[in-house]
Amino acid sequence: MSLLEALDEYQAEALRAIEECQTSQEIEDVRIRFLGKKKGKLKDLQSLLGKASPEERPQFGQRFNTAKEAVETALESRKTAIEKPSGPRDQFDVTLPGTAFELGKPHPVSRTISELKDIAGRLGFSIADGPEVEDDYHNFVALNIPEDHPARDPLDNFYLSVAQAGQGGAWLLRSQTSTVQIRVMENTPPPIRIVSTGRVYRPDTIDATHSCMFHQMEGLFIASNVTMSNLKTVLKMLAVSYLGDDIAIRFRPSFFPFTEPSVEVDIQWGNNWMEVGGAGMVDPNVLRAVGYDPEQVSGFAFGLGIERLCMKRYGISDIRLLTGNDLRFLSQF
Ligand code: PHE
Repeated sequence: MSLLEALDEYQAEALRAIEECQTSQEIEDVRIRFLGKKKGKLKDLQSLLGKASPEERPQFGQRFNTAKEAVETALESRKTAIEKPSGPRDQFDVTLPGTAFELGKPHPVSRTISELKDIAGRLGFSIADGPEVEDDYHNFVALNIPEDHPARDPLDNFYLSVAQAGQGGAWLLRSQTSTVQIRVMENTPPPIRIVSTGRVYRPDTIDATHSCMFHQMEGLFIASNVTMSNLKTVLKMLAVSYLGDDIAIRFRPSFFPFTEPSVEVDIQWGNNWMEVGGAGMVDPNVLRAVGYDPEQVSGFAFGLGIERLCMKRYGISDIRLLTGNDLRFLSQF
């Protein structure tokens, strides 16, 4: 290797080492290694310089000096960089705008759920909960829904393929929160006054007001002498408290296997009516299924569609927006 090459290599190696220095001590070590007067690498090269021929010497001498200077300069600036870090404190410009970070907020459906629970709580209802994966017994049998009832059609339910697994028969994603009525009554003697909110699943055709997953709020009131007019009062109060004094609500005669008589509950929707739930007086067969005596107690039950109440409250025209996860939509609420 010629002396020139050796100098190139020396310089490159020194600059790499300097670049890697993180502390003043390392800078000092590198300085001694590459520039040290006694044993530094430059010292070895200097002795080679002495051996160069007189013709070569000026060129080598010049290169020797530029290499030395390059290393000195690099050491100096690395040293400054380490010892006086130009960190955020030095650079902080108080006139710049701050970093804005966005606050999240509860989804409109979550807000509806907590408000409805709140209102129900003020009406004296406590909160109950039940599983989303249910068995045939709680979703149908105990609710007086006979074996051949169309509501049990596999096309209208999400049955699970582990079917027939449990004691209560086939498993499915619950199609209604009425299951919770049964679970509560099974475990609690009357009187009962609960609401339960949660998801329900139905393979409906999805459109602006239907979804295959939505939320319901189930209500159950069992005591002696509960009447249909109690039911209407509670539903009216729920609707007014959540949607305002001027909300128009109506009850239509209807049929559910687990209530008798039964009604469907509608609220005004533009120039029309929208069904927001079902309700009725708990059928004596249901009371018997949970071991209650229909001669001693009576009660009402209702199931309200939470998304539709939410849509009415916030003026949302399409239920799909609620599960679309589009922040441009959600951030309006
Ligand atoms: N479970 C019924 C439904 O999902 C609603 C309902 C609840 C009706 C309670 C009567 C009593 O449609």
